[in-house]
Amino acid sequence: MTRLPAMTTSIGAPRYTSTAIALHWLIAALIVCGFTLGLSMVDLPLSRQKLQWYAWHKSIGLTVLLLSCARLAWRGWHPPPPPPPMPDWQRRAAAISHSMLYVLLLVIPISGWLYSSATGVQVVYLGLVPLPAAALKHHVIDRDTVLWRMFPAARPRRPSKG
Ligand code: HEM
Repeated sequence: MTRLPAMTTSIGAPRYTSTAIALHWLIAALIVCGFTLGLSMVDLPLSRQKLQWYAWHKSIGLTVLLLSCARLAWRGWHPPPPPPPMPDWQRRAAAISHSMLYVLLLVIPISGWLYSSATGVQVVYLGLVPLPAAALKHHVIDRDTVLWRMFPAARPRRPSKG
């Protein structure tokens, strides 16, 4: 794969590409909004507003997931600029922190999606796109045959009697 060189600022210092910068700040802003909404919505009494806030929270979280995938793909073709001079341990610590942040950017929204699906509420992205509920919920909680249907050689377990 051909990797393009990092961009530079007007004074010649290496910097992230404009797309990477835009994605970074957009994702950061969405996380702040989604996190604040998440903390506020759980204590609301059951109401139309609560359901609306949950729906917004889920769509914001899923947008974070989509943009994080885009960010990772973009990073594959556009390497980050080299860090300024620093001790080796700091460089390693920064690399580990960045990797962990990427993992969290994927794991947190996916776990929210799984949690929502496991409670039996279908997630409808932006109120328009119904997302498939997690087949894992059927396998682990309902213990039915939904997941097995996609395994050609597997012998489905008996559905539980209730
Ligand atoms: C960056 C992504 C996300 C962040 C940072 C985030 C954060 C949070 C926070 C802080 C809460 C409140 C927890 C509490 O106070 O009990 C929460 C609750 C919740 N989140 Fe997320 N979330 C994200 C993505 C998602 C996604 C993608 C979904 C579903 C598609 C989701 C579904 C939920 C649900 C259903 C609750 C309520 C749990 C309850 O009622 O106890 N979240 N989230």
